[in-house]
Amino acid sequence: MHAAQFTELTLPLADESATVALAQSMAPKLQPGMVLWLQGDLGAGKTTFTRALLRFCGETGPVKSPTYTLVEVHEVSGINFYHFDFYRFNQPEDYLDAGLDEYFSGNGICLVEWPDKAAPYLAQPDLILDLQLGTHECARTATLRGFTERGRACLTAAASLAN
Ligand SMILES: Nc1ncnc2c1ncn2[C@@H]1O[C@H](COP(=O)(O)OP(=O)(O)O)[C@@H](O)[C@H]1O
Ligand SMILES: [Mg+2]
Repeated sequence: MHAAQFTELTLPLADESATVALAQSMAPKLQPGMVLWLQGDLGAGKTTFTRALLRFCGETGPVKSPTYTLVEVHEVSGINFYHFDFYRFNQPEDYLDAGLDEYFSGNGICLVEWPDKAAPYLAQPDLILDLQLGTHECARTATLRGFTERGRACLTAAASLAN
């Protein structure tokens, strides 16, 4: 029998360590070929989350923001992680010009900041993590939505944090 799976989940993130704990809960559930969309305003914690996620997947080197490079590649435990940031796109067609489609068709795990900037052309996500800034300096709210079985497995793992 399968355990009940979450399709949507909202979690308060009181401080940065809560964002790191969210990444820690999800890291073991990542599978080759997954696509995660990371949404939220500047400073919401998308890169902070990704950095923690890569750490828990075994990355020991630096995790730089891909704001200027569009993509940073991390090879960890035999899996390629592709960390994208499309903030600087002026129009969705910039994604096509950048020739990044191939990254999304293999076994790599794609972690995408500012996916909405390329949305019409982008591979559909297994899960969307939306980080909202709160009123308190460190407070964020995370909303997770799962669109595939493996995406929902990440949500179910993250749901343990709510207890
Ligand atoms: N709960 C929180 N989760 C994530 N980051 C937080 C939190 N509270 C404060 N911060 C701070 O907010 C900033 C988030 O920056 P960053 O991860 O680069 O955001 P983004 O990639 O979404 O633009 C960091 O300076 C981090 O220390
Ligand atoms: Mg960022």
